[in-house]
Amino acid sequence: MSLIDGFGRTIRYLRLSVTDRCDFRCVYCMDEDPTFLPRNEVLTLEELHQVARAFTELGVEKIRLTGGEPLVKSDLSYLVEQIASLPGLKELCLTTNGSRLKRFADPLKQAGLDRINISLDTLDPARFRTVTRNGKLERVLEGIDAAIAAGFRGIKLNTVAMKGNNDDEILDLVAFARDRGVDISFIEEMPLGVLSDDRRAHSMLTSAEVQAILSERYTLIPSTENSGGPARYYRMPDSKIRVGFISPHSHNFCHECNRVRVTTTGELLLCLGNENAVDLKGILRRQPNDIEALKRAIVGAMAQRPERHHFSNAGETHILRFMSHTGG
Ligand code: GTP
Ligand code: 5AD
Ligand code: SF4
Repeated sequence: MSLIDGFGRTIRYLRLSVTDRCDFRCVYCMDEDPTFLPRNEVLTLEELHQVARAFTELGVEKIRLTGGEPLVKSDLSYLVEQIASLPGLKELCLTTNGSRLKRFADPLKQAGLDRINISLDTLDPARFRTVTRNGKLERVLEGIDAAIAAGFRGIKLNTVAMKGNNDDEILDLVAFARDRGVDISFIEEMPLGVLSDDRRAHSMLTSAEVQAILSERYTLIPSTENSGGPARYYRMPDSKIRVGFISPHSHNFCHECNRVRVTTTGELLLCLGNENAVDLKGILRRQPNDIEALKRAIVGAMAQRPERHHFSNAGETHILRFMSHTGG
């Protein structure tokens, strides 16, 4: 059985947020002093496993665990082990800020994790502290090295491109990725959450601007491979790595969108760019062993998938959710 929405798109990819908590406070993601959800509102490991099982039984082949920061959740390796063994799953991935990877890279690999995406916006420790509001760059760099040593099938760095914060480091970040043989994606900032409009209006750097900077030093050749997601990838003649661009403002990829999200409170979110959602936690708690009821709710939710997202341009906020609740 597979999940097909009203516009004929098949859903094969689930982004599953395991916690809203994080040890960083990135300026584009959350408030300086966020209120985290009470524990009983957040899905338990058993519930997360049940959700993953329902989706794989409905034809989902790829699951990415997101946050907040997934590695602040205790026993994440145990959850990884359980989900990795679900029949039908081809790829289990994790998006992390890297701060705890030094300790967890090996256990995650052993548990069956295939791929890791790690956020890295700057190579300057002082700037890193500013962007993450007190994160330690050194720990993330150690985490990246640990992930490389653990031998994952794929590692990708994620850089949110920001004027005045890292536009002068774009070339250095690509050189860093090339040296280590890992992919890198540049992301246009998305207007989620109630963040300062002033900051947003002045900080947005488009993918076209990033590409113009890169063309000073590198030849980028468009890659024909389809990521099945928002990223457009490029290769360079003298390196194995890919450079990706995630451009929700300037490149609309909704027509080929293959993914849905489940938030940390168990809401099935039909699109990152609007508020349509279906509550799965209620079903999980009322009928904890009824996987068929869960699957029916998921299938029924497909009718609520919108044709495309509607992010506004800098300065206007439509979506009041923070990224840390939806897992990006
Ligand atoms: P894969 O496609 O699984 O390789 O990963 P990814 O690059 O999509 O995932 P990752 O978790 O690393 O997220 C990178 C950026 O892409 C984040 O800023 C996400 O919010 C953004 N992103 C992921 N999926 C979507 C989507 O469907 N729509 C939009 N607008 N942004 C997305
Ligand atoms: N816009 C774009 N990307 C964001 N991320 C977090 N908040 C935003 C935002 N508002 C990125 C992080 C991380 C990924 C999961 O999402 O940098 O790499
Ligand atoms: Fe934490 Fe990631 Fe949000 Fe930064 S972007 S505060 S690392 S969840």
